[in-house]
Amino acid sequence: MSADVASPALPLAGRASGLVGSIIDSSTSLLDSLDHPVINFAMGSPAASAIPTAELARISAELFTQGRVDLYGYAASEGDPGLLDAIMALMAECDPEDRPDPEGIVVTAGGMQGLDIAAKLFIDPGSLVVVESPTYTNGSAVALSYQARLLEIGTDAEGMDIDALEREVDRLGETPRVIYTVPTFQNPSGTTMSVPRRLRLIELARRWGSVIIEDDPYGLLAFDGSGVPSLRRLSGRDPLVFTVRTFSKILAPGLRVGWVDCDPSLKQLIISAKQAMDTCTNYPMQKLVQGYLEAGLMADHLADLREQYRVRKEAMQQGLSRYFGGRASWTDPAGGFFEWVTFDDPTVDCSEMFRTGLDAGVAFIPGAAFSPSGRFTNSMRLCFASQTVENIDLGLSRLAA
Ligand SMILES: Cc1ncc(COP(=O)(O)O)c(C=O)c1O
Repeated sequence: MSADVASPALPLAGRASGLVGSIIDSSTSLLDSLDHPVINFAMGSPAASAIPTAELARISAELFTQGRVDLYGYAASEGDPGLLDAIMALMAECDPEDRPDPEGIVVTAGGMQGLDIAAKLFIDPGSLVVVESPTYTNGSAVALSYQARLLEIGTDAEGMDIDALEREVDRLGETPRVIYTVPTFQNPSGTTMSVPRRLRLIELARRWGSVIIEDDPYGLLAFDGSGVPSLRRLSGRDPLVFTVRTFSKILAPGLRVGWVDCDPSLKQLIISAKQAMDTCTNYPMQKLVQGYLEAGLMADHLADLREQYRVRKEAMQQGLSRYFGGRASWTDPAGGFFEWVTFDDPTVDCSEMFRTGLDAGVAFIPGAAFSPSGRFTNSMRLCFASQTVENIDLGLSRLAA
């Protein structure tokens, strides 16, 4: 067939139109394709200095030099028992008051797969799904891929506006099937849902019979080391709360290892979902993570990350005051990776600024990328975690210019 003959239209499934992709993830290839260096505030990646490469290399060498042919085989769909034990130990160490049930823990290919499985279990075509506004749009994209209808609920310094949620649900006369939230050090705003709001959200979910998908990649990264109680724990491990976790932000995103913490009654369904998806999570990477956890390295590593990220966040706040004071406002995260900056002038177009910024050698994600309906055109998300203090200042000065 010659190249100028158009292909016939393919009989795509209805759900294909809900595959909206991710501006956030696409920025990786966009930045790779540029031929000049860019200070990257765009991707939510850990700092290069935060990846424990030496320890991971040592553990990999031990794993891969033993002639262990089993490493190249299939693993149990629910996760390798060794890693599951190590995850249970990590959870007990990080929140001694929580009592996870090992039967409710399943290893996943990163947090994204946990979100996909949750959506697969709970979202029907047309289901109403509440998302924060702004939200982590990879999460809302998962809901859309299962043909959800989205309801965006505003947030403030205390997280999702629960009064607005209740009002909107009353106005619609329809209760949500799922409420998707990133309650702790939210992506993109960096804010944390207060405990009173968490309790009200759980109460509403119970009243409505809604499932809460609690997406928590950053909860262990409080700058002051304090733990924020998860919705899962605060609900007394209510089956309605399905929590998604990942090693991407605390160890390395390329490993693609995460886990879900949910009601044990869901375990077999999740295993079945995984078996129809990827059979099992990458086995050598599971063993690598297990080796890292069993070597007892995580506690010190987390303490180091918290301190590195605290310093970077402060550098970013100082830089924002220096270069954007009087023109914009920004959030004050107590942990995690992100600052959310909003220009006072509502006509500032951050998508336009994104293109100019790339030419000037600085990248961020425009705010509209975090709203399925394209709100927040005069806002942007800046990731402070991945850049050095010097680059944070330089990047912000380029942006200001
Ligand atoms: C809120 C949130 N959920 C899920 C993910 C995806 O995590 P993973 O890379 O482990 O799939 C991210 C990564 O940026 C995130 O910020």
